[in-house]
Amino acid sequence: MPITYRSIFRPDLFAGQTIIVTGGGTGIGRAVAHELSSLGAHVVIAARTLDNLERVSAEISEAGGAATPFVCNIREEEQVAALFDFVLAERGGFHGLVNNAGGQFISPAEMISLKGWRAVVETNLTGTFLMCREAFNRHMGAHGGAIVNMLIEMWRGFPGMAHSAAARAGIENLTKTLAVEWARAGVRVNAVAPGLISSSGLERYPEAVRPMIEQNIRDIPMKRMGTEAEVSAAIVFLLSPAAAFISGESIKIDGAGSLWRKTWEVPEHGNGAVGFEGFDR
Ligand code: ADE
Repeated sequence: MPITYRSIFRPDLFAGQTIIVTGGGTGIGRAVAHELSSLGAHVVIAARTLDNLERVSAEISEAGGAATPFVCNIREEEQVAALFDFVLAERGGFHGLVNNAGGQFISPAEMISLKGWRAVVETNLTGTFLMCREAFNRHMGAHGGAIVNMLIEMWRGFPGMAHSAAARAGIENLTKTLAVEWARAGVRVNAVAPGLISSSGLERYPEAVRPMIEQNIRDIPMKRMGTEAEVSAAIVFLLSPAAAFISGESIKIDGAGSLWRKTWEVPEHGNGAVGFEGFDR
């Protein structure tokens, strides 16, 4: 008996559609690929390593869905072009794009090297831009479609991840610009902003930051991490016709964490002690 995804959406919602999911070999991207294929989409999953992509493609076929893996580093313009060559040759077109691929590492800002900064900005911001641009130029500009980009919960900055927060703030702004520029072509561009999600991405952080993550969970108003399925459902909604009048929007999936969660311990210090009294009457 194949294990099927328990989506809340109707099973034929994306029947006949092809949807590209970057970072589809692991974590949230894997869940999105599963959910979309359970709803009838043929998913093209792209990532840097073939192993994970092949594993997820096999899982999807086992569940009765259709998935095609393609190795692509979204930072490399030629590899992005090759992905779209492949999708157009194999599928004739595509209807949706989920720019889920990305990544970062934890570091105080003062210790981020130029190489590390560039790697994170290029993967998240530049990679997302290249994917959006090629999707538009190669197909969506003439046929319409829906794009969903990936943010993190960075609305009050993100101490410990300055590079990724800056890149994702860039993606949020890019999402708005593209929503306006591409509305004429029937292309909607939105984003999701997950807070702390229980996924394989989280497991990649070093053991030393585990206590910080546990404290962060206690500080989230909903007192838990989110699930991959909760992020996937928001992405699926944004790709669906139910979101036909939504573009340029970012949906937070964070248990109200961005409104309340303490993100950074500021130690006692005297460095803000001297105020300015320019008016003494
Ligand atoms: N996942 C994380 N980084 C990626 C990249 N540069 N290209 C594709 N998938 C990725």
